[in-house]
Amino acid sequence: MFAARPANPNSVLHQVNTKIGILISGRGSNMLALADAVDDGRIPNAEIALVVSDKSQAAGLKHAAARGLKTQVVERRGRSREEHDREIIAALREAGVELVCLAGYMRLLSDYFVEAYRNRILNIHPSLLPAFPGLEPHRQALDAGVAASGCTVHFVDETLDGGPIIAQRTVPLLPGDTEESLQARILEQEHQLYAEAVELVVTGKIQVVGQRVLRKNPEDDY
Ligand code: GRF
Repeated sequence: MFAARPANPNSVLHQVNTKIGILISGRGSNMLALADAVDDGRIPNAEIALVVSDKSQAAGLKHAAARGLKTQVVERRGRSREEHDREIIAALREAGVELVCLAGYMRLLSDYFVEAYRNRILNIHPSLLPAFPGLEPHRQALDAGVAASGCTVHFVDETLDGGPIIAQRTVPLLPGDTEESLQARILEQEHQLYAEAVELVVTGKIQVVGQRVLRKNPEDDY
């Protein structure tokens, strides 16, 4: 997706980090998981350039600021979806953001936003999409009586929780599971999966072909 960059910081060409913008609305545990993965090198050659929240009270804002990440609140304030998104995009562009990660961002993006960052917006959803999109995916999985659910990281298109799937992880449902217990087990997997998927994107190992995400080098391990 992005051009390969020299790994050696002392090389003649300066190493350029992919600037990631993260959108949150709530507690921000996936945002922190991505920040950890950037810090410890699991997501190489990247930096979190900006964390944007549409809610001024989002707990994730405090966590982001506590670890030195730049934050910005862009509330909707009664505007249309696109007007709101235009302000967010202006903030992202100002920060030089190339890749947008939705992490518990609870608003649908306008077509304008999707087009502005086409195939450069990722989302994480706590189900095995296309099963159980939208609200209460854990409740949906329990009600459907499935043996397993899980989590999905995908590129964002104009549809609800739609777009080419980058990575998925399965989590079995256990006897006696509640929404809370299932949510907790899936969340643990989300934190790992999101970092793995972002690594695939920033290192340019994958490409989007129609609705599918394919390895550029089929011999790379999945
Ligand atoms: C996660 O379960 C994520 O998959 C979903 O919203 C939740 C956000 O949690 N989109 P957090 O704010 O990252 O802790």
